[in-house]
Amino acid sequence: MHDVPWRVEIERSGDGAPLRRYRVPRAPRQTVLDLVTWVQRHLEPGLAYRFACRVGMCGSCAMTVNGVPRWTCRTHAAAVAEDGRVRLGPLRNLPVIKDLVVDMTPFFDKWQRAHGVFRARERAPRGLARVPPGSAPRRAADAGIECINCAVCYAACDVVAWSPDYLGPAALNRAWTLVNDVRDAERGVRLRAVGGDDGCHCCHTHESCSRHCPRAISPTAAIAGLKRETARGLLRAAVRRRRAS
Ligand code: SF4
Ligand code: SF4
Ligand code: FES
Repeated sequence: MHDVPWRVEIERSGDGAPLRRYRVPRAPRQTVLDLVTWVQRHLEPGLAYRFACRVGMCGSCAMTVNGVPRWTCRTHAAAVAEDGRVRLGPLRNLPVIKDLVVDMTPFFDKWQRAHGVFRARERAPRGLARVPPGSAPRRAADAGIECINCAVCYAACDVVAWSPDYLGPAALNRAWTLVNDVRDAERGVRLRAVGGDDGCHCCHTHESCSRHCPRAISPTAAIAGLKRETARGLLRAAVRRRRAS
C-alpha cells in the first residue's frame, strides 16, 4: 500500500479540464500541502496555490480537501485520503483568482465592517495595562485571540453562502475578542456594527465554523456572546427611552 501513489485531483480554473488528475509518490508523513507542492514542482508548473509558514501560523494554505475546508500544511494526507484519493479545490464562499487561490478581500472587508481593529483608550498609555488572566473578559478574549485568518470557518458557513453580506464567523469572533478587551475604546461602536442586519443575529448556530476551525476556536460561542451583549444594549436603550418619556 505504501508504494501505491496518491491519486490527487485538483480543480483547475481557466482553460482546459476543470478537474485534473495526478499521481504523487508516497513518502513518510506527507501533508496535503506536500502533495500540492509535488504536483506543482514536477507536473504542473502553472498550478496556483498559496502557502508561507508551513507550520500552522500564517493561515494562507487553506483549501477544500475532499469536500472539507482545512489548513493543508498541518493536515496529513493519510488522515484525510479516501482510498488513496485526495481531491482539492479552492475555499468556498470566496472568489477564485486562479486554481487553489482565492481572493481574501471580502473576508478582510468584513473585519473592517465589524470594527476588528483595536483602538486604545489612552493615547499614550503609561506603562503596561494590568488585565488579570482569570477575569471573565480576559478569558473570553483569550478564547478567540489565536485566530490565524485562514478563512476555514468562513468557507464552512452556510449562512455566508446564502447571504454574502453576512459578516461571518471570523470577523464576529474578532469583534468579540475586542468587545472583551478592557483596554479598547470602541465597544459601543463595535456592538452597533455587529448587531445590524448582516451581523451576529443572522447566525443559525449550526457550528460548522467551530467544528472545522484548525485552532480549536469557537466562533459560535463568540457570536452567542455578541448576541447577548447586543440584546442587552437594546433593552437598556428601551428602558432609557421609557424613563425619559
Ligand atoms: S476562527 Fe479559526 S477557522 Fe476561522 S479564520 Fe480564525 S483560525 Fe481560521
Ligand atoms: S455557527 Fe453561525 S457563523 Fe458558525 S457556521 Fe453556523 S451560521 Fe456560520
Ligand atoms: S502555510 Fe502557514 S498555516 Fe499553512
